Amino acid sequence: MAKNLLLSPMLKWVGGKRQLLPDIVPMINKKAPLYVEPFIGGGAVLFNMQPKKAIINDYNQELINVYITVRDNLEELLDELRIHEENNSSDYYYEIRALDRAEEFAQMSNIEKAARIIYLNKTCYNGLYRVNMAGQFNSPYGKYKNPNIVNEAVLRAISNYFNTNEITILNGDYKEVLKDLEKEAFVYLDPPYMPISSSSFTGYTEGGFGYNSQVELKKECDKLNEKGIRFVQSNSDCEIIRELYKDYKIKTVKAKRSINSVGNKRGEINEVLIYNE
Ligand SMILES: C[S@@+](CC[C@H](N)C(=O)[O-])C[C@H]1O[C@@H](n2cnc3c(N)ncnc32)[C@H](O)[C@@H]1O
Repeated sequence: MAKNLLLSPMLKWVGGKRQLLPDIVPMINKKAPLYVEPFIGGGAVLFNMQPKKAIINDYNQELINVYITVRDNLEELLDELRIHEENNSSDYYYEIRALDRAEEFAQMSNIEKAARIIYLNKTCYNGLYRVNMAGQFNSPYGKYKNPNIVNEAVLRAISNYFNTNEITILNGDYKEVLKDLEKEAFVYLDPPYMPISSSSFTGYTEGGFGYNSQVELKKECDKLNEKGIRFVQSNSDCEIIRELYKDYKIKTVKAKRSINSVGNKRGEINEVLIYNE
């Protein structure tokens, strides 16, 4: 079937893979009966590939709640987003942002929580989902002229895709997802990158993903490899990663990164695609 061109990330996410699609997509086995993406983030690769059967996962509860709400409660979600759109202003933004510091947060419905994340993502500075050590959203207001808060066409396309295909949406640690996979599955891994400098951003979730996590991930890749399961992993181009994966194939690709520790600076940097065959 032809690809639905409307299917694309509904959230701007740190490490989004949109611009690397021409490098990544040809490396994915389209004939695999099951596509697995354990660090889904904004889902650029999934929405481009549009597999009929997939398992997607992320550790971030707020993010997975957005996907599940788009799948199960689209109309109610659109209604909530329209309210945010009507009220959007700097003051309103900070009011909505502060909700996760208030006691009412526990009483908010999953639909309200999902609308809040989409609204903040569309209106915050740089579209950067950022939380502090306590897991509270802390990006400032972005002052966009016309933020696309109710991105109805894309949300409908995503909802329809989830509902008309066999897409399992999970919220946990990636290791759980990799257990007991069938040999024919294909896995695309886009973990939080190994920081190239100590000041680099890694705070997607509380806790982070440091060197030890990278070593653990390598062991998980070894397990996949031993089972004959094909995978591609993206990561930063640095000595530590090249050394860890010296027994695998590595392709160097160029990426423009706009979100980094120096605020809005944009630069071209090398990244790597690690794979087995
Ligand atoms: C580099 S981003 C993925 C970007 C995504 N490919 C895109 O196009 O937007 C990494 C993701 O891994 C998630 N993550 C961090 N630790 C995790 C863990 N232990 N298990 C599963 N997901 C995790 C983060 O919440 C984040 O969404």
